[in-house]
Amino acid sequence: MSKRTLVTSALPYANGPIHLGHLAGAYLPADLYVRYKRLKDEDIIHICGSDEHGVPITIASEKEGISPQDIVDKFHEQNKQIFEEFGIHFDYYGRTSSEVHHQTSQEFFTKLYEDDVFVQKTEEQLYDPKAEMFLPDRYVKGTCPNCGYEEAYGDQCESCGTSLSPTELKNPKSAITGDTPETKETTHWYLPLGDFQERLEKWLDTRENWKPNVMGQVKSWLNDGLADRAVTRDLTWGVPVPLEDADGKVLYVWFDAPIGYISFTAKWCEEQTGDWENYKRWWQDPDAEIVHFIGEDNVVFHTIMWPAMLMAEGNYQLPSEVVANCFLNIQFPGEEEQKISTSRGTAIWIEEYLEKYDPDPLRYYLTMIAPEDQRTAFQFDDLISRNNEELVATFGNLVHRTMSFVHKYF
Ligand code: 2FM
Ligand code: ZN
Repeated sequence: MSKRTLVTSALPYANGPIHLGHLAGAYLPADLYVRYKRLKDEDIIHICGSDEHGVPITIASEKEGISPQDIVDKFHEQNKQIFEEFGIHFDYYGRTSSEVHHQTSQEFFTKLYEDDVFVQKTEEQLYDPKAEMFLPDRYVKGTCPNCGYEEAYGDQCESCGTSLSPTELKNPKSAITGDTPETKETTHWYLPLGDFQERLEKWLDTRENWKPNVMGQVKSWLNDGLADRAVTRDLTWGVPVPLEDADGKVLYVWFDAPIGYISFTAKWCEEQTGDWENYKRWWQDPDAEIVHFIGEDNVVFHTIMWPAMLMAEGNYQLPSEVVANCFLNIQFPGEEEQKISTSRGTAIWIEEYLEKYDPDPLRYYLTMIAPEDQRTAFQFDDLISRNNEELVATFGNLVHRTMSFVHKYF
């Protein structure tokens, strides 16, 4: 048994509130795991925080007509509070817009740059002349070349999970103007994932008992062969690229966000012990295990890109476990089961649930229907009946009878 465990939960984008799907995918399973280990008196900490960069934030800020900083300030506080009210305890809930996180990410990038890990390339990228900007990631939508889904984003298809580059999309459209983009040359730094393929395969061979939904995805990407992946973007919001010839460029959000696991651990250590360098007890000591709880759409980043970054950096240990549930669907009375979608209004916001109900009935229900190896569906009637019939009647009765006998005879 390892001496201590660092559990991280995926950093939610601070661009909107937390819904049922978020809880079922990563945060509730992580909280249960941490509670279980704490009951066994194990040394364990749970780290999370807001992912405050990237296109999801700037698009939300444009939609609401307020600055990216105002968006992340609002949802950081709101989500932190909702987690607390729902009984999800984090030892530290950080922010990727914080100074310490910017510094840690820039140092990480600089180390890789100085070690000649990156490939610098000047290539044609999608550009929206009307908006006068390049269209990275979610600024462009189109048809997924892998599964044909027509609403795939420039960095990932949410339908099949494939990680993409904007230029791979068929029939691309700018998310800002709706126009078909032009192309224009720009320079970026790429992580040559292919250079890490063999080491990743060897490392993954040593991972026992990973869930099939995680390992299945990893194997399929490895089978296809790993391509270079840009780790910088032409955007104004994010961690500035720490190089002289990189004005107007920031780190790709999926480069800086996982580094948050490290920078937030250091902040927690500083708060607890006065010495931030104690983060090494978690990140550099083989007696500690790192377990990442994530959503299904985050698998490629945590099992391929992030481990490759860690291998390239060289000073940190790799995660022992990457745990992801499948997505949770929802079924309204008399309707077909469907995906939870914020845009189609099928999400149930935890804030609204908590205005009327206590956390525990929902925690119990989401645990019992957890989409561990396949999608499951949230149903209102089922939430009520499983609490009444299963938890209160069956289990409550067992506890009541047991306690009555113990009281009577002993
Ligand atoms: O999918 C998401 O919500 C991402 N913000 C998760 C980031 S996890 C980690 F890398 F920080
Ligand atoms: Zn797809």
